[in-house]
Amino acid sequence: MKIGILGTGDVGRALGKGFLALGHEVKLGSREANNEKAAAWVKEGGPRASAGTFTDAAAFGELVVLATLGAANQAAIEQARPGSLAGKILIDATNPLDASHGFPPRLALSGNDSGGEQVQRLAPGAKVVKAFNIVGNTHMFKPNFPGGPPDMFICGNDEGAKRQVAELLKDFGWNTTDIGGIEGSRYLEAMCIVWVMYAVRTNQWNHAFKMLRK
Ligand SMILES: NC(=O)c1ccc[n+]([C@@H]2O[C@H](COP(=O)([O-])OP(=O)(O)OC[C@H]3O[C@@H](n4cnc5c(N)ncnc54)[C@H](OP(=O)(O)O)[C@@H]3O)[C@@H](O)[C@H]2O)c1
Repeated sequence: MKIGILGTGDVGRALGKGFLALGHEVKLGSREANNEKAAAWVKEGGPRASAGTFTDAAAFGELVVLATLGAANQAAIEQARPGSLAGKILIDATNPLDASHGFPPRLALSGNDSGGEQVQRLAPGAKVVKAFNIVGNTHMFKPNFPGGPPDMFICGNDEGAKRQVAELLKDFGWNTTDIGGIEGSRYLEAMCIVWVMYAVRTNQWNHAFKMLRK
């Protein structure tokens, strides 16, 4: 499948590497076509890896991943062009973090709104699925924990899109727990803060959530 990734940070590059390892074609997008991190990633990624602008990556992807600075989501989606995202699955891996009060950061959107809902409003024709936002980038592809595969908690309004994302997550080495509509982002984004607070308290960055059922 052709995957467009909006974002050249740790998350964009880690997810891109995972998609390449699974045999997909990946275009990494950034504000400028000649982004240095993207160029190095393409060199390492081989013939199925390419880079361009947010506009190029969104147009390229049959499935698109949003992996931009949360505060920049609006600018990135505008550059990607919402029309290019219409009808496509848009995986939202972002968190609307506000670091202006120190670390751990606060959520810039909370209560009755969230980054995931904002992304869905900015790209109304896209099938937005919140995923990958509750774990550090080093564990996103093939997480290896003694307790077995962790759970990726996801949400979104399109049931078919969530089923496809759950299949992809299985390929990435995750179980999936679907908590419902995109408004669930209010709580998945808070889970990111839980993940970070535990990391800061213990100075350990190697943990992930798992749902136990009976
Ligand atoms: N780091 C993690 O382990 C982790 C884990 C889970 C979720 N997340 C979330 O995933 C997202 C990506 O995190 P990250 O650490 O990979 O990278 P990041 O530093 O948060 O974001 C990098 C990306 O944001 C774009 N960007 C920055 N300012 C912009 C602006 N003013 N307008 C448009 N685009 C702008 C950059 O564009 P250029 O390419 O042009 O530089 C780059 O592609 C964040 O929302 C973060 O909260 C991170």
